[in-house]
Amino acid sequence: MSDSAPAPCPDPDPDPSALRAILKDPGFCRYSTGRVAVVDWDAGTGWSEPVIAPYADLAMDPAALGLHYGQAVFEGMKAFRAADGTVSLFRPDDHGRRLARSAARLAMTPMPVELCTRACAALVAAVAHWVPGGYGQSLYLRPLLISTEAELGLRPSRRQRCVILAHPADPCFGAGFRPLSVTVATDAVRAVRGGTGESKCAGNYAAGLLTRTEAQARGYDEVLWLDGLERRWIEELSTMNVLLVWRDGDGVRLTTPPCDGTIVRGLTRDSLLTLAAGPGGPAAAEEPTSLDALLDGLRDGRLTEIAACGTAGVVVPVGRVGTPDGDLTVGDGTEGPVTALLRRTLLDVQQGRTPDTHGWLRPV
Ligand code: COI
Repeated sequence: MSDSAPAPCPDPDPDPSALRAILKDPGFCRYSTGRVAVVDWDAGTGWSEPVIAPYADLAMDPAALGLHYGQAVFEGMKAFRAADGTVSLFRPDDHGRRLARSAARLAMTPMPVELCTRACAALVAAVAHWVPGGYGQSLYLRPLLISTEAELGLRPSRRQRCVILAHPADPCFGAGFRPLSVTVATDAVRAVRGGTGESKCAGNYAAGLLTRTEAQARGYDEVLWLDGLERRWIEELSTMNVLLVWRDGDGVRLTTPPCDGTIVRGLTRDSLLTLAAGPGGPAAAEEPTSLDALLDGLRDGRLTEIAACGTAGVVVPVGRVGTPDGDLTVGDGTEGPVTALLRRTLLDVQQGRTPDTHGWLRPV
């Protein structure tokens, strides 16, 4: 999130011209809507109803379990404004299900999916004037679930807080849609089978951050992670899933590594695979790909495009892959037609420009 430093908006209800100026160029979460949704859980009383509250520091006991033992999981979700002005959440129940799955893996109490969706919808309704309507723009929601009970012994928490943030966002975080350069992680591993790799937990992002920061110091945008056991299979980037576009006879074939517990189950990834499987789309499959196969494909031209995808990043081309033996260019280093088509197809559904045949939009 290099271009973002989420700052509470000094005025949650700026005058219309100030708001218009912000929404024209919101960056990625540079401005807060000034409000959050809060839902608390207590082992004795269960889940509270969502409350919309001012954006403010979290008051938490310094012995909170979430701060010491990493019991903190989150989601990244978006609400879009269609041309007719209506605002819809994109796949909120699926995000809620993934949040629940992440929580369960960390021995936290999963928030009911219906409650998560209702809290997000209540927040979006309260700050609907903050939802930008430019192409690909959205209101980015960040539900965070953290264990708040003060306890220095290691055990599941008897108290949790869910706080949902809302920030207007341009289509893509980081550097926009320019091609990314990625470097293969040769020393560090991000996840192993049986670990927490597929969970959207704070610790997963911390685990990869040093390698990513070092890669950025060497001029790369992102790290391409390999599996933790054989160090042979490609998995994902630190912040996004990976899609590969292969030449296949006269057409193309889309592949992405399968979710075997070490890869975040990206909903953008899932949406793109589903859209690709539609009429006229390329053949698409979840398929293990070794680093050697990827590099061979780049060298002999069978691998024509690599794309990174995620909620915040949408779909971005990868233009360069760094390996210990040097860098390889993907295609001609610019965005390929399949990557551009995938992004357009997804954004068109998200913003109501094409029919939502999969029922992914939930009007607020
Ligand atoms: C998202 O894409 O929504 C994420 O949560 C990834 C984050 C690193 C921006």
